[in-house]
Amino acid sequence: LFARPCTFFYASQAINQLPPMGAPEVAFCGRSNVGKSSLLNALTGQKALARVSVTPGRTRQLNFFTCDEGRLTLVDMPGYGYAKAAKTLKADWQGLMFDFLRGRPVLRRVLLLMDARVETKPADRAALDLLSDAAVAFQIVITKADDVKKAQLEKRITEIEAIVKKRTAAHPLVLITSSETGQGIPELRAELATLAG
Ligand code: GTP
Ligand code: MG
Repeated sequence: LFARPCTFFYASQAINQLPPMGAPEVAFCGRSNVGKSSLLNALTGQKALARVSVTPGRTRQLNFFTCDEGRLTLVDMPGYGYAKAAKTLKADWQGLMFDFLRGRPVLRRVLLLMDARVETKPADRAALDLLSDAAVAFQIVITKADDVKKAQLEKRITEIEAIVKKRTAAHPLVLITSSETGQGIPELRAELATLAG
């Protein structure tokens, strides 16, 4: 997987304009600025595939990327919990996400990203509820592991594992990654390879 370049092929701002369902899909979900676009780039080994920004709320639509000659589709989702976003934008996000998560049988897994440096926030709990209610298989991926001390990372892992245990739709394996150092990237690639068509 990812031996050949992935390409962007579709951007969607509304549920009635999603691309036709084809290859199995894996979606990247999480707080604004958690590192979704960076992880997508690290995974594919393509630095400029998805737009990375220091400004939260950069990704405002569902961006679809096709990989390995159509064997797998990666979906970069807009981040949630963006403080400056207007209320209507938040409602739009929730609506779009829920409709997408519910009505997408080809969606094989959602990667719910959690920042190693930040404790779980109410918006993350809301996302967990959304995923559980939509009954989609999801997996927690810890990001920015390079930016915390070992003890802090251990604490965060314990906290997240407790959350995972309570959710039946959660994949038991919590992956620890860094898009900066490449930690956990081969493991995540291997995981995605099991989902490709
Ligand atoms: P939105 O599209 O706004 O929701 O953000 P996003 O989740 O796509 O985050 P993005 O990948 O744009 O990264 C946000 C910031 O975090 C950027 O400044 C990245 O350089 C930084 N960042 C991402 N991954 C890592 C990482 O593994 N380690 C460190 N130290 N910084 C990272
Ligand atoms: Mg992004």
